[in-house]
Amino acid sequence: MGGVLEGYHVPVLLHETLRVMDLRPGLTVVDATFGFGGHGLEIAKKVYPGVVIGFEKDPEVYRIVSESLPPTANVRLLNLGYERMDEGLLKVGVVGVDRVLFDLGISSFSLEGTGRGFTFKREEVLDLRFNPKEGEPAYVFLNEADEGEIERVLRVFGEERKSRRMAREIVRARPIETTSQLAGIVDRMYPPKLRRRAKARVWQALRIHVNKELINLRKGLALSLKHLRIGGILVAISYHSLEDRMLKSLKHYGFVKPLFKKPITPSPEEVARNPRSRSAKLRAYVKTGEVDASELMEDEGFAHPFPRRVM
Ligand SMILES: C[S@@+](CC[C@H](N)C(=O)[O-])C[C@H]1O[C@@H](n2cnc3c(N)ncnc32)[C@H](O)[C@@H]1O
Repeated sequence: MGGVLEGYHVPVLLHETLRVMDLRPGLTVVDATFGFGGHGLEIAKKVYPGVVIGFEKDPEVYRIVSESLPPTANVRLLNLGYERMDEGLLKVGVVGVDRVLFDLGISSFSLEGTGRGFTFKREEVLDLRFNPKEGEPAYVFLNEADEGEIERVLRVFGEERKSRRMAREIVRARPIETTSQLAGIVDRMYPPKLRRRAKARVWQALRIHVNKELINLRKGLALSLKHLRIGGILVAISYHSLEDRMLKSLKHYGFVKPLFKKPITPSPEEVARNPRSRSAKLRAYVKTGEVDASELMEDEGFAHPFPRRVM
């Protein structure tokens, strides 16, 4: 079952994830970000005859993966975002989940193979949506939003220090359509040594904005905690501080208990083998009490400490 999809993405913290998830035959597991099944297919082997319900928002990733899965696999793959977990679980008739995994961030395939502008290293249309049927592409936002809104997105979601000047330069350079146009603006504002990181921040900000990533993550986490059985385990791998802050804030609630204090990070060997793993942080919680998902979604302590209008 594994193997077929191996060229598309290298799973991050795989052994650590499997260990922390404490898997055994018969469990029902949600892989909220199935991608190419780097984690999900290994989990499926360990829980057989239990099942893995995989959520994958990107229709192209979903198509490639579902075409290569044997019909007998104990994986039910859904082309849905994890923010629609209620709908997905209802569709596959699952009530009660034993483990949930979120592997946030982006796969190597999305970066290099979709042509939607996820990489600033090639000339592509600046779209940045995981599902091109939802929301608006990043270039539409950059061309239509007012300068203040662009500035807020760059500052809040990219933690970009030069957000004001950058927003002004963007508005001045309109219309913007491609990765190289935006990369050119960022490059002109930074010396060569700082350019790559600056572009990474700007791309992160726009990706979070167009995909509503933080709102969706809040929903996805709240819903998965609702569906998790008491004693069930939630594992999440995040790749930047905004996601990690949200995951960390869960420890303040009485209905979960962190399995360990400090997040697990990749070994130097893993980072050398797979540089994309370098910013990964794995946190895990065990569910100890019932969760009201709508209440959690609205809770200010779990909500991101940012003004609602930019989320
Ligand atoms: C880092 S990759 C997961 C890789 C996977 N664990 C593996 O090893 O093959 C994250 C995946 O989540 C998907 N994704 C992004 N936002 C999502 C959402 N809201 N719901 C479900 N999937 C999402 C992306 O398309 C991407 O395939």
